[in-house]
Amino acid sequence: MTHQERLIVVTGATGKQGGALIRHLLKQGGWRLRAVTRHPESEAAQALAAQGDDRELAARFAPVAKALADREATIVAELLAAQGNPVDLGGYYLPDAAKTTAAMRPSATFNAVIDGMSAG
Ligand SMILES: NC(=O)c1ccc[n+]([C@@H]2O[C@H](COP(=O)([O-])OP(=O)(O)OC[C@H]3O[C@@H](n4cnc5c(N)ncnc54)[C@H](OP(=O)(O)O)[C@@H]3O)[C@@H](O)[C@H]2O)c1
Repeated sequence: MTHQERLIVVTGATGKQGGALIRHLLKQGGWRLRAVTRHPESEAAQALAAQGDDRELAARFAPVAKALADREATIVAELLAAQGNPVDLGGYYLPDAAKTTAAMRPSATFNAVIDGMSAG
């Protein structure tokens, strides 16, 4: 396997250490890079996204990131509304898959954005 085919996932990418690693690998070229952040809307994360050379990936995820950012308040409200409520999973040792999935994905707004990715 040549290094061009290898994927490197960098955590702490918006920080000093991770940022230095990303800059080094971009300068070297040929790597497939993914940066992990808890705050994709932050200035540091946006700057990181802008310097990447994987245009195809950026084109695929930029609308998703924007859709999530635009709907953040609604998504957070939907997730918070699900907290602390009793949930019927249809069984303890053998939970019902559909009921469990519904309980684990309580934000219809978030789900619509994510499900839209596989539809597109
Ligand atoms: N700087 C140095 O010279 C140096 C030397 C030796 C060791 N270290 C160690 O290397 C590590 C990184 O240092 P740094 O200077 O690069 O720090 P930094 O500039 O403060 O960056 C910290 C990074 O970690 C991410 N992060 C923070 N909390 C996180 C969490 N709970 N889950 C996932 N990601 C989290 C942040 O990303 P988001 O906010 O975007 O999610 C940010 O990109 C630290 O453990 C530090 O002690 C640093």
